[in-house]
Amino acid sequence: MLKISKLAMAAALVLGATAALAGEVEVLHYWTSGGEAKSVAELKKIMQAKGHVWKDFAVAGGGGDNAATVLKSRVVSGNPPAAAQIKGPAIQEWAGEGVLANLDATAKAEKWDSLLPKMVADGMKYKGSYVAVPVNVHRVNFMWANPEVLKKAGVAAMPKTYDEFFAAADKIKKAGLVALAHGGQNWQDFTTFEDVVLGVGGAKFYNDALVKLDPKALNSDTMKKSFETFRKLKGYTDAASSGRDWNLATAMVMKGEAGFQFMGDWAKGEFLAAGKVPGKDFLCAAAPGTSGAYTFNVDSFAMFKLKSADAQKAQADLSAAIMGTGFQEVFNLNKGSIPVRLNMDLAKFDDCAKLSSKDFVDTAKSGGLQPSAAHGMAVRPAAEGAIKDVVSQFWNDDKVSVPDAMKKLVSAAATQ
Ligand code: BGC
Repeated sequence: MLKISKLAMAAALVLGATAALAGEVEVLHYWTSGGEAKSVAELKKIMQAKGHVWKDFAVAGGGGDNAATVLKSRVVSGNPPAAAQIKGPAIQEWAGEGVLANLDATAKAEKWDSLLPKMVADGMKYKGSYVAVPVNVHRVNFMWANPEVLKKAGVAAMPKTYDEFFAAADKIKKAGLVALAHGGQNWQDFTTFEDVVLGVGGAKFYNDALVKLDPKALNSDTMKKSFETFRKLKGYTDAASSGRDWNLATAMVMKGEAGFQFMGDWAKGEFLAAGKVPGKDFLCAAAPGTSGAYTFNVDSFAMFKLKSADAQKAQADLSAAIMGTGFQEVFNLNKGSIPVRLNMDLAKFDDCAKLSSKDFVDTAKSGGLQPSAAHGMAVRPAAEGAIKDVVSQFWNDDKVSVPDAMKKLVSAAATQ
C-alpha cells in the first residue's frame, strides 16, 4: 500500500514537473511527401521527448504556395502558429509586420553566430535579431536519373551539357520511355527554368537576370536562348504531366518509366524513403551546364510571437532543437539536403550529399553560389509569383512566343 502511494506520488511529481515545462508547439509546414514526412517526423519525436505537445499543421502542396496562403489567413485572424516554414526574403516581410518573435536569447546561448555561414545567419535576422531558424541547405540544380533506363537506351554517362542531354533524351525517347519526368505546377516549371538559365548563361548571368532582375539581362540574347532551350525540354516530357505532383514525377524515374528529372535534392529524400540506393538505383549530377554553380535553398522556420510562457518555452526548445547536431543529422539524412550547421560530420551521408557539400564550399569561393529564385531565396514573394506565372504560361502554351515571354518577364520582375 505504502509502495503504491509512493509510486503514485513519484508519478504525480514527474507529471507535475513535465506539465510545468510542457507547452504546445503548432508547426506549419508543407512536408507531406514520403521523404518529407519522414524528415519532419524526426523533429516531432525530439519535441515529444522534451515533453512538449506537437501540433502538426501540414498544408500539402510542393514548394509551399498553399502553406503561405493558409499562414496569411491565420496571422491576419490573430492566431499564428508557433512556427512556420518561411524562407528567404519572405522572412524579412513577415518580420516587418511585427509578428515574429525575437530568438536572440536562444541564439546567444546556443552560439548560432559561430555555427552558421554568415550569409545564412544574416537571412535569419531582422534588424540584427534572429527571428527564424535554418534547417538545411538544399541544392536546387540537381538532375536525377535511372541508370537502368540509361543503360536500356544506350546512354553511357550523365549528360553534362544541353547538347549531351538532348542526345541522351532522343535515345530514351526512341527506347519508348519518357526522357524527362516533369510535374504540373508552376513552381516545378520555374525550378527547371532556373536550371536552364543557369546552365545556358552561367552564374553571373543567372544573378543579373533572376536575382537582380536586371531588365537588360531579362531581355537579352542569352535569355532568348534560355527560353528556347526550356521549350525544347518540354518536347521530352509526357502529355500527362499536367497537375502532377513533383514526387510522382520522381516516382516515374524510380520505377524506370522515365530517364531524368530536374529537381532539388528533396527528390533524393523520395528515393531514400523508397529504399533506393544512390549510385546504384538512381544517379545524381548537377543539371546540364551547372556543375560549377550551386542554387541554394535554405529551409527555415520563422517563429511567431506567442502569449503563454509555456508556449514560449516550447518555441525556444524547438528553435534550439532545430540547430542541434542530432536533428541536423537525422533530418538531413532523410530530407536529401545537407546540414546548415557548420563543421558537421558527414560520415553517414551519401555521395550526392557529399557532392553538394563540396560544391557548396567551392562555389562560395568562385561566385557560383546563387540563391534559388524558384524557391523563395532570391526575390520578394510578389515578384517571384509574377515571374513564376510568366514562365508557366510559356511552358504550357506553345503559342506564347519567346519575345513575348521576355517582355512579360520584364514587367513581372517589376511587380511590387
Ligand atoms: C522546399 C523543400 C520541399 C520542396 C517540395 C522546396 O521549396 O525547400 O523543403 O521539399 O519545396 O515541397
